[in-house]
Amino acid sequence: MVPSCSNFSRQKEIVDLILLNQKRDYSRFDLSLAAEAFAPSNIALIKYWGKRDEVLNLPLTNSLSISLPGKGAWTQVSLREKEDQILLNGEVVDPKMAFARRMQDFLDLFRFNTDLAYRIETKINIPVAAGLASSACGFAALVLALDRFYGWTLSNRALSILARLGSGSACRSIESGWMEWHSGGREDGMDSFAQPLNIDWSEFRMGLILVSEEKKSISSRAAMKQTVMSSPRYSKWPKRVDLDLKTLKQALSAKDFQSLGEVVERNADEMHALMREAVPSIDFSLPQTRVYQERIRQLRKAGLSIYYTQDAGPNLKVLYLARDEKTLLDCIPKLEPIFHEHKDHVLKST
Ligand code: PMV
Repeated sequence: MVPSCSNFSRQKEIVDLILLNQKRDYSRFDLSLAAEAFAPSNIALIKYWGKRDEVLNLPLTNSLSISLPGKGAWTQVSLREKEDQILLNGEVVDPKMAFARRMQDFLDLFRFNTDLAYRIETKINIPVAAGLASSACGFAALVLALDRFYGWTLSNRALSILARLGSGSACRSIESGWMEWHSGGREDGMDSFAQPLNIDWSEFRMGLILVSEEKKSISSRAAMKQTVMSSPRYSKWPKRVDLDLKTLKQALSAKDFQSLGEVVERNADEMHALMREAVPSIDFSLPQTRVYQERIRQLRKAGLSIYYTQDAGPNLKVLYLARDEKTLLDCIPKLEPIFHEHKDHVLKST
């Protein structure tokens, strides 16, 4: 195990490398300044589940996600005297709580004026720590707000790398739309960032079935580590992901919804199967999760094109096409539409 001070210096080296050409007089940034940014939450269709480097959050595989335009985090950064203050949805977070400690550890990478502390105000419009990518949008919004605050105007690639240091999947929340996170191969992770994919599929929809807003009993970070270390079939996962990604990309370019749905559902099911086989076993599902999964399978048998994916929590994200939305909302009143393609998601180049 690498001791934590060297963990910090490994992360700090990356931050210094990214900010190398930013010549700033940081003493000029005072209590009168503030900057704000929004970052979307992202849902992985092909999952990131396993790291090749725990300190830099470098993944073993690529992954692919969709950023949700209306769900995410708004973060305001300013400076204050004395110690950091972190507000979440209008309330001051106890500095001893895991959320505050994680934020402060991350902010330690950006302490340019040691006489001042940070005030971070975040508003998140999704349940926190319930497997809905709240830490992903939280860290991405923080990085975007820091970039604005200090006027760095970093590239999206650099911002993606910085966000990744806070939480792996945060690197996919820097932009909207379809994103692929490249695992990269370099030890310093400078080639491990997310990029937008040029996909124009206006019929594609995602909905949320909120089974529970309860905080999860084990963090995704700990669950991921436990799976990698103890799940007997974990060694087969990276190959599975490579194949699933290929299938998904083919389905995306052919707009083959059935094959997309099948591979997305299988990928999530396999990730949860690996977790259940870990020692001790991890199961994020609640009885209601299984009830809705069965309901989705039944609706499929009845002829509807509907699939699910599930992250580190009991809630389900449902994939379907626009033409079925009305029918599905009747069949599953709990379904909340959370994604449809916006024109500005369709990028000209990758
Ligand atoms: O970035 P983390 O540590 O919150 O892990 C995210 C893990 C999953 O949401 C389950 C999968 C993914 O690719 O987002």
